[in-house]
Amino acid sequence: MRLLITGGRGMVGSNLVRGLSEAHEVQAPGRDTFDLLDARSVQETVSRLAPDLIIHAAGRVGGIAANAAANALFLYENTMMGLNVLEAARLAGVPRVLNLGSSCIYPKDRDEQLREDDLHTGPLEPTNEGYAVAKIAVLKYAAMLRNDDPRCDYKTAIPCNLYGPGDHFEPPRSHMVPSAIRKIDDARRAGDAEVEIWGDGTARREFMYVGDLVDFVGHAIERWDTLPPLVNVGLGHDYTINEYYAEIADVVGWGGTFVHDTSKLVGMKRKLLSVDLADAWGWKAPTSLTDGLRRTYEHYLETAR
Ligand SMILES: NC(=O)c1ccc[n+]([C@@H]2O[C@H](COP(=O)([O-])OP(=O)(O)OC[C@H]3O[C@@H](n4cnc5c(N)ncnc54)[C@H](OP(=O)(O)O)[C@@H]3O)[C@@H](O)[C@H]2O)c1
Repeated sequence: MRLLITGGRGMVGSNLVRGLSEAHEVQAPGRDTFDLLDARSVQETVSRLAPDLIIHAAGRVGGIAANAAANALFLYENTMMGLNVLEAARLAGVPRVLNLGSSCIYPKDRDEQLREDDLHTGPLEPTNEGYAVAKIAVLKYAAMLRNDDPRCDYKTAIPCNLYGPGDHFEPPRSHMVPSAIRKIDDARRAGDAEVEIWGDGTARREFMYVGDLVDFVGHAIERWDTLPPLVNVGLGHDYTINEYYAEIADVVGWGGTFVHDTSKLVGMKRKLLSVDLADAWGWKAPTSLTDGLRRTYEHYLETAR
């Protein structure tokens, strides 16, 4: 299959390119020649490359602070990129698109697992509302094209938070796991006895190893016809932030203590995806937290330091 992957130099995209290149012919032009904010150039490139399937893995992505400081920019760029890719696919007759959503599209502060049909049933988390609204607009456009035009077999997978090789370890772009790896490794090197955690650490998060998303996408390509058009991709269980820090400290080999800064933004109390649909389709995330963290820390030591 001829694949076009957007965002192929990003954390998710680079893992997809690496993981799918053996079985498929993969094209992943970078932003220098394929600026997704330029609709005309996106249309020209998609039409010229004529892929069998586009995986849309580009976006303006950031942690809580970056999102909270620039909600409008996150909304604008992510909406424009997604609509440009889908519209270019439609115009060029690309039969399949796998659009990557994000779990922030769901209502905030739900204690129960978030199912695909929970979309639009409550207010969004304000710290990353711009990003969430953009993700909803793009997945809706994919769903509406799919509904309106039988040639557009466009689907959206909604991954939970991801971590892994290729992650961004420096603030303000870093998410919780890479930020904790950097902080704890810095403390180990400096001989520091304390590491700070934002908030009280009791918020729960679901972080999946990025290699598991690649595994999911590989299965999705193989069994495209049965893939649900909107499907969560996650672990189905979560951990507290304190538990992630403790596990990372083990992997890094640092034995100090954690202190909490409760004045800092922490976002939702809990955000856990229901994976019932993916489960019924026949897929489960294969990598344990410890194995995923070990591989990510090895990558950090090899590349980021
Ligand atoms: N990371 C997660 O935890 C997570 C979880 C769920 C869903 N996702 C989704 O996965 C996708 C990728 O996330 P990521 O973590 O891989 O982000 P990332 O590492 O920041 O990568 C984003 C990629 O998008 C590219 N990009 C940004 N603006 C562009 C533009 N105008 N034209 C062309 N390319 C552009 C970037 O190009 P440059 O390299 O040139 O900057 C980069 O390659 C996003 O849709 C995100 O919502 C991520």
